[in-house]
Amino acid sequence: MTEFAETSPLDALRLDPGAHRPRRLRRTQALRDLVRETTLAPDDLVYPFFVVPGEGMRKPVPSMPGIDQLSVDGLGREAAELSALGIKAVLLFGIPSSKDAMGLESFADDGVVQQAIGALKDSSPELVVATDVCLCEYTDHGHCGLLDADGYLLNDETLELLARIAVSHGEAGADIVAPSGMIDGMVGAIRTTLDGAGLERVAVLSYAVKYASAFYAPFRDAAEGAPAFGDRRTHQMDPANAREALREAALDVEQGADGLVVKPALGYLDVVRAVHERFPELPLAAYNVSGEYAMVKAAAANGWLDERAVALEILTGIRRAGADLVVTYHAKDAARWIQ
Ligand code: PBG
Repeated sequence: MTEFAETSPLDALRLDPGAHRPRRLRRTQALRDLVRETTLAPDDLVYPFFVVPGEGMRKPVPSMPGIDQLSVDGLGREAAELSALGIKAVLLFGIPSSKDAMGLESFADDGVVQQAIGALKDSSPELVVATDVCLCEYTDHGHCGLLDADGYLLNDETLELLARIAVSHGEAGADIVAPSGMIDGMVGAIRTTLDGAGLERVAVLSYAVKYASAFYAPFRDAAEGAPAFGDRRTHQMDPANAREALREAALDVEQGADGLVVKPALGYLDVVRAVHERFPELPLAAYNVSGEYAMVKAAAANGWLDERAVALEILTGIRRAGADLVVTYHAKDAARWIQ
């Protein structure tokens, strides 16, 4: 007669009664909420605007579905929408009416960004207005500063222009200027010039760690600032380098940066973490750039990914890596989703 075993072979695999069971804390949504380590709130998000000259303009950016270029008169309504969503900050990019070799419109009193700052501050005084400080949208060659005869970006000659842009944004009422060109010494030059102009209140949020990334391609459509020739690899960082990021960040901290930006975000979460750990006392922003947004939108449009779930997962991941703030084109949608 065959004897049947009283116990299943699986019994040997059973955990002891006292075993650790992390799943206990994942059993219900309330438990999961209770032990969540990373939060994502609308006031962690910064929403970028692309401002164009003219009136009544709202021009969709083809490679960034959901994002439009807007004229100044449309900004008040946008600001009200952001405020209703709990988003407290915008980052302005300007597309000038004309471009030249020096990008002179970038610091014109009646330039498109300067007007946009005024309009936003009139309609929503509490909104934090940050501005991108760079020349690439304003120069006819599309580079981020002055070039020598060989097309090499001149460093110190460009500093003066960046400082003039920052002062003109500060005078128009910007709360924060964000130099994005990766020009050596840009933070110090801007800080000194702002202070000299009586603009001590204006904060400098430096794109201290910005990589020469192919993920900026849709942005260059939106801001119409693609280089006419060459690329930005002589000033933006090599994507292969992380230790160098700490050196860049340290230099900007020394020069008086009030906050730091790492950009792009997704391929660089290790860098976000490293900068956060090295400079925990400074607010850190990560820029979830145009190409990162476009990938999600394209996959979602094809039904390959759930846009809402993926975008929130990405933004949470960026926060978890150590970013206090996330600059993102998903901001409005994300704020709606998390409300
Ligand atoms: C430069 C600037 C760029 C971005 C922000 N500021 C483009 C570049 O360096 O080529 C990219 C932002 C994005 O891709 O979303 N003014």
